[in-house]
Amino acid sequence: MDNNFDVIVIGAGPGGYVCAIKCAQLGLKTACVESNKTLGGTCLNVGCIPSKSLLNSSEIYHKAQSEYNNLGIEAQNIKLNLEKMMKNKNKSILTLTKGVEFLFKKNKITHLKGVGSILAKNTVTVTDASGKKNNFKAKNIVIGTGSVPTSLPGIKIDEKIVVSSTGALSFEKVPKELIVIGGGYIGLELSSVWKRLGSRVTVIEFLDHIIPGMDRDISNELLKILNKQGINFKLDSKVTGVNIVKSKAIVDVTNNKSAKRERIECDKVLIAVGRKSNISSNISSLGIKLDGQNKIQVNNKFETSIKNIYAIGDVINKGPMLAHKAEDEGIAVAEIIAGQAGSVNYEVIPAVIYTSPEVATVGKTEEQIKKEKIKYKIGKFPFLANSRAKVNSETEGFVKMIVDEKTDKVLGVSIIGATAGTMIAELALGMEFGASAEDIARTCHAHPTHSEAVKEAAMAVDKKPIHF
Ligand code: NAI
Repeated sequence: MDNNFDVIVIGAGPGGYVCAIKCAQLGLKTACVESNKTLGGTCLNVGCIPSKSLLNSSEIYHKAQSEYNNLGIEAQNIKLNLEKMMKNKNKSILTLTKGVEFLFKKNKITHLKGVGSILAKNTVTVTDASGKKNNFKAKNIVIGTGSVPTSLPGIKIDEKIVVSSTGALSFEKVPKELIVIGGGYIGLELSSVWKRLGSRVTVIEFLDHIIPGMDRDISNELLKILNKQGINFKLDSKVTGVNIVKSKAIVDVTNNKSAKRERIECDKVLIAVGRKSNISSNISSLGIKLDGQNKIQVNNKFETSIKNIYAIGDVINKGPMLAHKAEDEGIAVAEIIAGQAGSVNYEVIPAVIYTSPEVATVGKTEEQIKKEKIKYKIGKFPFLANSRAKVNSETEGFVKMIVDEKTDKVLGVSIIGATAGTMIAELALGMEFGASAEDIARTCHAHPTHSEAVKEAAMAVDKKPIHF
């Protein structure tokens, strides 16, 4: 094998594999190093994809039990076959990871199997499963090694009783009692899965609200809806310890305000308090600068403190830890290496939480706009007044659009409602083109669709929605 490349990408997650494909498309001789047996990183193997498979299956199971009858569908003896549900999830993972393998072959990308580390400025060492080391030369190196789950001080994740998202995607039995620490993306998505499959779920959140960083109206609404679905919440509460006694976990919780202590016994504990960048020890010994949170510092060309070594995705000190952000950075860095003008607009990165209903947001929240002292107007429209949502019995939630008071330019949109994750793309596109609320209000939206609520929210900015 020729050991010289234009680019070696370390890590084949959504950032790394997309970067490798774009590099190859731009005519660069490219290799991608991956230590996992399958390509696709956390997202495809133990993140976005398996969680969405379980969210989809568990929602259908739940609806079959509680909603089909109202629709005139009489299904008897609906039973859960968890093993089959997991097999279906694993099949989806396999199809998609094989898909990335196919794309590597199609684009003539060399797949280097093993753990990649940077030996020197232009040399990557790959250590394979047997411990054998091989050196490869590259004019450019891109680090896309992603992130790993964090835990709390003194609490060890064993992936059996105390689990990260990885363990919670593969329980062999539905836990009777599940405690989830952290009311963020992972906590709420996996609480939804196991609640629907029959667990009693309690979410313990340190703050007095869930999904920090999202618009507070949305956070309050989601809390109300998830409570109604039977998920218990202990907000403003701190976990001070988790102990394993026989096959159970004992979780110690203290309320931040009242200092009241509580001890809860459960079958499984999911730790979902965030993720940390996956930095190998040789990164800092090479002199690549990290920030205070152990993330790689990059300039506006995604270059680290060492020339021709770039970094993208969850390991860098820019933007949210989201797969699609990493993908866009992967494309941008490939273009930059190829001498083009790659960039990412961090003002317009959508985020979606795949609960039922979904939550989706793009741009600024009302809290951010207030902090920045921008004068703004709000247009809000409830799905209760949207005909398609009504027909489908999906009337929970609303669209909230925030615009600049003077220019009418859209500054941010948050949606809680069915198909929110799909609808947010329209707003991201609009914001990329500098759309005003009037632009969106005057765009013809198909009837009957949930997306008419977006148009109505745009009209509501001037207090003139048609259907409310
Ligand atoms: P997160 O940052 O979304 O939420 C963590 C939550 O834990 C926060 O609400 C925080 O206040 C709380 N917390 C922190 N310390 C705590 C403590 N000691 N006790 C109780 N609560 C505590 O992190 P999460 O959910 O672990 O997700 C990690 C990353 O993965 C996120 O950055 C997210 O962007 C990404 N992700 C994205 C998904 C999506 O796009 N749908 C799905 C899953 C993960």
